[in-house]
Amino acid sequence: MPLVSTKEMFAKAYDGGYAVGAFNVNNMEIVQGITEAAGELKSPVILQVSKGARAYANHTYLVKLVEAAVIENPEIPIALHLDHGDTFELCKSCIDGGFTSVMIDASSKSFEDNIALTRQVVEYAHDHGVVVEAELGTLAGVEDEVAVEHGKESYTRPEEVEEFVTRTGCDSLAIAIGTSHGAYKFKASQCTRNADGVLVPPPLRFDVLEECIKRLPGFPIVLHGSSSVPQEFVKMVNQYGGNMPDAIGIPEDQLREAAKLAVCKINIDSDIRLAMTGNIRKYFAEHPDHFDPRQYLKPARQAVKDMVAHKIVHVLGSDGKA
Ligand code: G3H
Ligand code: 13P
Ligand code: ZN
Repeated sequence: MPLVSTKEMFAKAYDGGYAVGAFNVNNMEIVQGITEAAGELKSPVILQVSKGARAYANHTYLVKLVEAAVIENPEIPIALHLDHGDTFELCKSCIDGGFTSVMIDASSKSFEDNIALTRQVVEYAHDHGVVVEAELGTLAGVEDEVAVEHGKESYTRPEEVEEFVTRTGCDSLAIAIGTSHGAYKFKASQCTRNADGVLVPPPLRFDVLEECIKRLPGFPIVLHGSSSVPQEFVKMVNQYGGNMPDAIGIPEDQLREAAKLAVCKINIDSDIRLAMTGNIRKYFAEHPDHFDPRQYLKPARQAVKDMVAHKIVHVLGSDGKA
């Protein structure tokens, strides 16, 4: 099937009590690892491209890689989404350039300015058959050039969501309930430690999520910053010359719970980076004489595939839902 929008994907996910994974893509190996896993597990999947990914790999290369994945995996729905679009012009360029979904992230602006910019993007996108994700509330962490310090993030205010969605006409809404971008989602001071000395993060604000759901019945919610930062990869990075002390993510069981509710899209990027980096570091350490990129990118691609397969089955619940 051709590239799809997320409209039908989300309607099915909402009713089915699962979420669709939105994985960031930056190169061929990442596109292949994600879509091979989704294809084998018959899962819908969203491939998302950030402004930084476009600057790194070029819009056309990324679109063509995704189109190749669509040809190779004809049985699963694949959507191509702009992650964290920050201007009308960037969203327009992706809408005109073959994306089926865009995010306009004006969450750092005032409520009124967020509405005005989101509305402008929605009008253009809907005229072109493209759906729009918007955001209310801010996450901690780093996305593109925007860094929000821990403690400066703000949870979504449930009393604002209905007015925001009605006035903008957006198709899905990203909310802030305690997830955060990157591999260091919480400061050690925000966490407790278990008996093994491993950090245990504070729980997600399910009360905020449930209030939003009550005010937006049937409406798809999105969670950004939802990597789990698997400790096996952190250990691998650190064992083979890296230095990522106290890297910590969102516990998978909490994401699974959110996926059973109205959360229809769960964003994962850092776990892809960790899976690749851990495995490439290991490969280099074990094969210091190798220099063919295919040799070390092959296990990295396999690690992305295995990690995404794990998410699909154990976190998203989207296997068999294509
Ligand atoms: O939310 C941010 C995503 O992880 C994309 O990151 O802007 O470095 O490509 P990036
Ligand atoms: P992570 O950094 O948790 O992978 O979040 C990715 C994301 O939200 C992309 O928009
Ligand atoms: Zn994000």
